[in-house]
Amino acid sequence: MELDKKTPEQFATLILERLAPNEGKPKDHYTKSARKRRPKSSVRIASVPLLTIPHNLPRISVFFGREKELKTIADALSPKTRTWGVLIDGPGGMGKTSLAIRAAESVPADTFRRILFLSSKERMMTGEGERKLSQFVVPGYLDMLNEIARHFDQPELTKQPETDRARSIIDALEAAHALLILDNIESLPKEQQNQLFEFLSQLPPGCKAIVTSRRRTDVDARIIRLGKLEKDAALALLAELEADQALLKKASETDRIHLYEETGGNPLLLRWMVGQFGRGSCRTLADALALCRRAEKENDPLEFIFGDLLETFTEAETKALAALTYFTHMLEVNHIAELAGLSKTAAQ
Ligand SMILES: Nc1ncnc2c1ncn2[C@@H]1O[C@H](COP(=O)(O)OP(=O)(O)O)[C@@H](O)[C@H]1O
Ligand SMILES: [Mg+2]
Repeated sequence: MELDKKTPEQFATLILERLAPNEGKPKDHYTKSARKRRPKSSVRIASVPLLTIPHNLPRISVFFGREKELKTIADALSPKTRTWGVLIDGPGGMGKTSLAIRAAESVPADTFRRILFLSSKERMMTGEGERKLSQFVVPGYLDMLNEIARHFDQPELTKQPETDRARSIIDALEAAHALLILDNIESLPKEQQNQLFEFLSQLPPGCKAIVTSRRRTDVDARIIRLGKLEKDAALALLAELEADQALLKKASETDRIHLYEETGGNPLLLRWMVGQFGRGSCRTLADALALCRRAEKENDPLEFIFGDLLETFTEAETKALAALTYFTHMLEVNHIAELAGLSKTAAQ
């Protein structure tokens, strides 16, 4: 295969196009965009609302559950609530970006005049694979400020001295009534994250923000620590995905719950697992579960989830994790501390 001068996407497409005929499937089996799926579930919350204000939100295909979190965000975004907004933190794939987008789509009309979505990371994982977010990406704090300035028709502010820029943009936002969604801020250096939170704490009253991060940060806003998707919502997601998956269609409720538990209620992992069904050695649900346990590094979504997380770990966390890999059952903190050469508090 001629692989020189190919982008990673072209490279992946080529491989997938070769793989499909080997498995007796049409060439575009893995590469064609998602087929239309029949809506099946009764738990799906309101159909996708139509936003009438200008926005650049990425589209989300399906969304289930998370009603408690949506309510917390709605409260925080209400003009009556005195906070700059919400920080959603949690592991990769747990649904932070989807939740932020769905919450933004659901704001009552008249709350904001515009919604601006910016991400500090280039890739977004969807059930169909990775999607590049080139039009939204802002690699640093100042880029983020500049993008906000440009978006609100104040491009001259991008030339202001760095020390005054945040202040000028805050002034410019005074009449803007904007909702800012700042996604994946764990990709910014800590110092820039602090500058960003400082900026947000000065937002004028009509403006709010939703920020997502994989890292826990204590900020002066509502904080949602996003954990597993509710079981009913996960089952609804599986019902939605089964249209394309004979193996999943045959799976009993017990199998589905098993799958849910095995993936720790992480919707990305759940979608990815379903994507593995019927491929290669994955002929039964048990195969798929075994694969999930084994997968770790060789597989893209897991690397996406865990690889990136590793990058955001501190040295102490990496050491503790390395120490943990020596054990197969529960152990005491002081043993980890001893192995990793850390204090007991650091290991904790
Ligand atoms: N509430 C939900 N209902 C259905 N699918 C979801 C939900 N939350 C997340 N997903 C799916 O899980 C995957 C990961 O979600 P994402 O929002 O990108 O997670 P994160 O931002 O935490 O990494 C996406 O494919 C998304 O469609
Ligand atoms: Mg995300």
